[in-house]
Amino acid sequence: MISNTIAVLSSNDIKHTNADDVMGFAQNNDLFYLSGIDQEDTLLLVYPDAYKTENREILFIKETNEHIKIWEGDKLTKEQASAISGIQRVEWIHDFEKIVQLMAFEADGFYLGHNEHIKRVTYNQQTQQDRYIQWFKEKYPLHQYHRVAKITRQLRPIKSEEEVKLLQKAADISIKGFHRLLKNVRPDCMEYELESELTYELIKNGGTRHAFKPIIASGANACALHYNTNHNSCKDGDMILIDFGVCYANYNSDTTRCIPVNGKFSTRQKEVYTAVLHCLKEGSKLLKPGTIHAEYEKQMASLVEEQLIQLGLLDAHAIANQDPNKPLYKKYFMHGTAHHLGLDVHDVGLYSRTIEEGMVFTCEPGIYIPEEGIGCRLENDYLITATGNINLTAQMPIEIDEIEQLMHS
Ligand code: GLY
Ligand code: MN
Ligand code: MN
Repeated sequence: MISNTIAVLSSNDIKHTNADDVMGFAQNNDLFYLSGIDQEDTLLLVYPDAYKTENREILFIKETNEHIKIWEGDKLTKEQASAISGIQRVEWIHDFEKIVQLMAFEADGFYLGHNEHIKRVTYNQQTQQDRYIQWFKEKYPLHQYHRVAKITRQLRPIKSEEEVKLLQKAADISIKGFHRLLKNVRPDCMEYELESELTYELIKNGGTRHAFKPIIASGANACALHYNTNHNSCKDGDMILIDFGVCYANYNSDTTRCIPVNGKFSTRQKEVYTAVLHCLKEGSKLLKPGTIHAEYEKQMASLVEEQLIQLGLLDAHAIANQDPNKPLYKKYFMHGTAHHLGLDVHDVGLYSRTIEEGMVFTCEPGIYIPEEGIGCRLENDYLITATGNINLTAQMPIEIDEIEQLMHS
């Protein structure tokens, strides 16, 4: 932080459906990362250079009342919020403006939270962060403004031991879910029935929610990368792509497996699957300290390209003469294959930063052939160590024989 500045981070809004029902609550991850508070209407203020020590860290929470207690139950007390966050001074959020005013003119500027993710999709919704940015700039127009996200995106990619434990727990629940799903696949079952098997293990094991709407895509549906209506039936002879994740204590897993509807891969499915598995095994070796992300993606693209030639989908001669700006492999393989994983599924962190120990990445190569009704992606989660990586999802079956055996047992 630049000296003599105040950082203010806010919680997310609770999203409503149409009337008085809610879609649920997902905390702002920067606020959660720094405070551990998972409740709406929360603000965190950090002013390291404050003249008065009591102004250096303040947590603002919602004051409950009888009405809230009757309809929603308990909210955090000041003591509980202090115990969770380790912050001594906890105030009611309705006193925020008054308290900020008392220190605002002592400071030179504010750091404010904003969703800066490269895939940010909140641009068409006014968030609580947007409202605070507007409020601060109107009230204190001559202060300097800075971005909290520049700091948190530096911190969040390196996971602590405690965070790794939670990521492992999310992965472990995913593994259970996949085992349960395997036992319930049969020709003509509905994709959503398989989704329910994942949901069962997720809830049973204390997961918060699905990390994202699971993708249960049978046959050619698997070629639509984010297909997730899951409303088709699984046909005998097809393969199903299952891309799913568990959110546990706000930390996520993100895994993909492909399985045959009838329990036995066809010859062609086996060929494509083996090709993708080869790319996963070889490509994931590059996820280690010192690797430059763009270089990893380039090498993964070469691995996939090689496999596409072997599968008879691309011609080596045509590749040699291709327009480098329009590589031919993109017809069958059109997405990136490693993203940070953490409090967000596509977690924050600059991809210009070299891979470091403590980061967690997915590895997810894929080959999609709509004309053959085959889409195959395989995805694991890797913790980067000093010398390489650890596969947090190693216990999720991935070898062809293992999957076939489990489906028949
Ligand atoms: N499920 C989204 C992804 O794999 O990145
Ligand atoms: Mn995924
Ligand atoms: Mn992913």
